Amino acid sequence: MTEASGEPRLLIRGGHRLEGQVAVSGAKNSALKLMAASLLAPGVSILHNVPDIQDVRTMQEVLEYLGAVVDFADGTLTVDTTAVQSQVAPYELVQRMRASIQIMGPLVARFGRARVPMPGGCNLGPRKIDIHLRGLADMGGVVRLDHGFVEVTAPKLHAIDMFLDYPSVGATENLLMAAVMAEGTTTLENVAREPEIVDLCKFLVSMGADIEGAGSSTIRVNGVDEMHPAEHTVLGDRIEAGTFLVAGAVTGGEVEVTGISPHVLDLFSSKLRSIGVQVHENTRSVKVRGDPAGYTTVDVSTLPYPGFPTDLQAQMMVLLSIAEGVSVVTENVFENRFGFVDELIRLGADIRVDGNHAVVTGGQSLTGAIVRCPDLRAGAALALAGLVAEGCTELREVYHIDRGYEHFEEKLQTLGAEVERTTAEPRHS
Ligand code: EPZ
Repeated sequence: MTEASGEPRLLIRGGHRLEGQVAVSGAKNSALKLMAASLLAPGVSILHNVPDIQDVRTMQEVLEYLGAVVDFADGTLTVDTTAVQSQVAPYELVQRMRASIQIMGPLVARFGRARVPMPGGCNLGPRKIDIHLRGLADMGGVVRLDHGFVEVTAPKLHAIDMFLDYPSVGATENLLMAAVMAEGTTTLENVAREPEIVDLCKFLVSMGADIEGAGSSTIRVNGVDEMHPAEHTVLGDRIEAGTFLVAGAVTGGEVEVTGISPHVLDLFSSKLRSIGVQVHENTRSVKVRGDPAGYTTVDVSTLPYPGFPTDLQAQMMVLLSIAEGVSVVTENVFENRFGFVDELIRLGADIRVDGNHAVVTGGQSLTGAIVRCPDLRAGAALALAGLVAEGCTELREVYHIDRGYEHFEEKLQTLGAEVERTTAEPRHS
């Protein structure tokens, strides 16, 4: 066990009923794109409610590498993009965080050029960027692949009508940011409808863009001559909210998450209700209460928004593992998002994976063990499993959780969880 000494780990002693309120942080998957969007205009943009998480710090490094001056304190991030000169993103940062490729659209729009390393595969399987590149090429960009980099050059982008092969979140965002200063009216159909896309559109509009249809499947962008810096408050993180709601439900507790609009979790909440969890919604909060002894399983199938979020699939699997009955979880968004199942099985879950389906036999009593986080959401899910497991669970490779959850264990502690971060020599019975 000595090999893990020094590396941060979470020790979780299960069996506590969680109770109380958690204020969700700003959404990671919005903040990162807003930071990229700030590149569209020279000057100082200000973002509030930015979560202090590793991915935001990485995006900060990307912007600084390009020449921006970034200040980040107390949730407010100020980006001065006046001195940005470089249009080349470094390999190390893009490999560390795929979302770095979202600088492509803004850089081509403002400077006529972007050179970004091909992001390659990740723990969730191969993640292509063909839709991003096709859209940029249709807008007049010359796309070249060399030495592991993708380079797009276009002195002036022009408007397009494009039907996306798939409502990709990243492609929708990159093409939107490219289109805001393209000549003419761009129509993008079959686009992603995630709340984070709507948040990005709001920011772009406050920067001077002319956009209609945000949140629907068709977005129209009337190109403008120039953009200006703006100020914006990042929307609340629906995935963080869902994670803490599952924490309340699995422990048979009573947990309220604040700072999000309940409708962004509509399908997720309806699944919780079908399982037997009581869900109460207010204007800006959602509260759950439940008794695991009465939970029964439901089938879950992930889909682009407003479907069931792939980013809550792993957390849901923990709840289904303790509910009575057999359920089928189908992952339709990513090819490889069951990588955590073997770890969950080590805690006592009964799950059989066949392709993109997982058959979960519920009613299991989980017991603590040493497990490792294979990725961000899976890591959070394993922590939730630790909350109900008998005895101590030791979670390793928690840097995955730090990429996307702000003050994760502190928030759990506030709710009454027995969880601590340690770098000491492991002592596990
Ligand atoms: C975003 O990833 C999120 N990341 C993911 O959150 C989230 O799981 C995902 O959207 C789906 O909701 C960020 O916002 C930083 P996609 P993204 O493009 O943009 C295929 C988390 O844990 N595809 O909608 O990469 C692709 O291979 C993370 O917070 C193409 O085929 O998602 C995948 O199977 C993980 N061609 C599917 O679409 C393309 O050009 C969804 O990808 C683009 C995507």
